[in-house]
Amino acid sequence: METFVFVTNNQHKLEEAKAMLKNKINIVGLSGIGCYDNIPETGKTLKENALQKAHFIYDNYHYNCFADDTGLEVEALDGSPGVYSARYAGESSNSEANIAKLLANLEGKTNRKARFRTVVALLYNGNEFLFEGTVNGHIISERKGVNGFGYDPVFIPNGYNQTFAEQSAAVKNTISHRAKAMAQLYEFLIKNKKPTIQ
Ligand code: IMP
Repeated sequence: METFVFVTNNQHKLEEAKAMLKNKINIVGLSGIGCYDNIPETGKTLKENALQKAHFIYDNYHYNCFADDTGLEVEALDGSPGVYSARYAGESSNSEANIAKLLANLEGKTNRKARFRTVVALLYNGNEFLFEGTVNGHIISERKGVNGFGYDPVFIPNGYNQTFAEQSAAVKNTISHRAKAMAQLYEFLIKNKKPTIQ
């Protein structure tokens, strides 16, 4: 079985990816290759960041690998927080502060449309491949639910009436941006289907 490095320290993401790739591909996280480096993430787009992280591992450790980057894009805020989602309220901000800033910026706005977008960059024998997954929805004005992380308590995906934080992980993991991007990666690696974005 081929081995791929998932450029992440997040055990939850790693387990999720293993399950999604149906254990047909051997996936290890950064600790699995003894990498404890501070990997730079200085891109201005999700694609740049995903490629930057994947290249760091491919160029320094020489493993086939993939990296993901996700952002929440809010229509009335011209796509913000986007690539800056993790540090929207400042460099050392947390989800609480990020949500508070988001709700403050959306106060009084009737257009609450938003989407999560994930870009996955794969480096396979030196070639770059990109995959994308999105989920459309809207931002509500107060937090609901305790599951998940990040902006989950204020995001309701289209077709549902509960926030991601009210849904079970099983439901979120079938409809989420990350699940869709990982599904594309799976289709490519297992079934040789073409990537979605350039
Ligand atoms: P990352 O690229 O996966 O680290 O995501 C960047 C930031 O986007 C996170 O710190 C979260 O604030 C937000 N985010 C990413 N994925 C999700 C999600 O599934 N739900 C809610 N927020 C998310």
